[in-house]
Amino acid sequence: MSKTISIAIDGPAGAGKSTIAKALAKELGYHYVDTGAIYRTVAYFLDLLGISPKDADGVERYLDELTIGIEYDEEGKQHMLMNGMDVSDEIRTQDISQKASLVSAHAVVRDVLLDMQRNVARKHNVIMDGRDIGTVVLPKATVKIFLTASAEVRAKRRTDELLAKGQKVTYEQTLKDIQQRDYQDSHRPIAPLKQAKDAVLLDTSELDIPQVLERMKEIIREKIAL
Ligand code: DC
Repeated sequence: MSKTISIAIDGPAGAGKSTIAKALAKELGYHYVDTGAIYRTVAYFLDLLGISPKDADGVERYLDELTIGIEYDEEGKQHMLMNGMDVSDEIRTQDISQKASLVSAHAVVRDVLLDMQRNVARKHNVIMDGRDIGTVVLPKATVKIFLTASAEVRAKRRTDELLAKGQKVTYEQTLKDIQQRDYQDSHRPIAPLKQAKDAVLLDTSELDIPQVLERMKEIIREKIAL
């Protein structure tokens, strides 16, 4: 079997990972894997059952009842299936963002999802984004990039995105949510958000999307012939 290529993109919420990774995957013809969406699906499932994301016993007990499916449509958009039901839109709320951050701290959840993510990367060339892709999921990724931006810029981008989807959010609340998730995601004991030693750091605070894409391609070109 030929070896697959993997591009790992990590960074905090709202750094632009999914927008950029999606565009790059389309251009390169790679599979785009949004790993945050998988954690969100777990959080949404437990939430429907009324299980607190902090309840370790409850999380462990009900995780077995969940079958997660990842499918791609003709446009390459990733769809999340929760026991066969498409929940791709339902998982995109601020409430589920917070719960996904809490639920992702449990070892039992991370273990199950680790295999799922590695399996996709074994079969396809991937651009995978998340928090621990370069450090834990794909430590031998072909290219590793750590995307970041100031909390204020990230909150502004996330607020605009959610408002465009018709959700009622304020900049202040989004900033608080982002700061809280930054803290939780980078302080958990297992697979915390951090830059891999061999990742290239890219701060997107002052860059627009085409500029970030250009810079990313330069970084990728150093490792792979595009
Ligand atoms: O990327 P996102 O905002 O959709 O992720 C939601 C939460 O899922 C995030 O706050 C932490 C968790 N997560 C994780 O722990 N590891 C990943 N690889 C991706 C997301």
